[in-house]
Amino acid sequence: MKGELLYEGKAKQVFQAENNEDLLVLSYKNDATAFNGKKKASFEGKGKYNNLISGKVFEFLRDRGIRSHYEKGLNDTEQLVRKTSIIPAEVVVRNIAAGSITRRLGIKEKTTFTPPLVELFYKKDELDDPLINDEHALLLTDLNPEELQQIKSMALQINKELQTFFEKINLAIADFKLEFGRDANGDIILSDEISPDTCRLWDLKTGEKMDKDVFREDLGDLITVYDNILQRLGAAI
Ligand code: TMP
Ligand code: ASP
Repeated sequence: MKGELLYEGKAKQVFQAENNEDLLVLSYKNDATAFNGKKKASFEGKGKYNNLISGKVFEFLRDRGIRSHYEKGLNDTEQLVRKTSIIPAEVVVRNIAAGSITRRLGIKEKTTFTPPLVELFYKKDELDDPLINDEHALLLTDLNPEELQQIKSMALQINKELQTFFEKINLAIADFKLEFGRDANGDIILSDEISPDTCRLWDLKTGEKMDKDVFREDLGDLITVYDNILQRLGAAI
């Protein structure tokens, strides 16, 4: 199934798919990093949980009409996706304040944003992925103004779908990060992963953090939490 290793990131390896030039195999690693790689660890099973959870999220989004790179799950740690050229802008949607926005703007954690906030970050490790505005995004990517608006409105639509999805398993989605890519036709589609590594998920009843903040903030055992999410999904969907 897998051909040549094309790229290795912090959380995934990307392989050429055998027999189809247009497809890739994403292989989820057990490594966890935070604060742009300054904090590192490895957790047995993390790759499996993120692969399976992200697969379920992308299948739900596909059923709701969101176009993405996701084709199908292959095994516990791998999935087949369509090749895209990644747009180097991370799109963060925030429903409730947490993380960098609390430090950057002095907003108290748990402040609700109505309507949700959309932020752009330049995907550039050497610069620690800085916050950018629309003009910067047009300068630093190949997006035209209409495509930038399209990405932002897709992100807000995905937010609504994800709120519904996670509410079913008693989780609030405080914020999350998306990446978009261009497929072989030049169309912009959702790419990368949507998992507890890339979302902030809070238990609706207890407020308990059930995402990578468990690792970022040393709150407990990451694998127990990720396993709990997958179990809730298994029971609900
Ligand atoms: P932030 O509060 O650190 O800006 O993160 C906002 C959301 O984006 C949070 O759900 C975690 C996610 N995220 C990533 O997926 N990758 C990253 O590199 C960063 C910085 C955040
Ligand atoms: N993903 C980033 C890193 O690898 C930051 C984060 O998620 O906190 O360090």
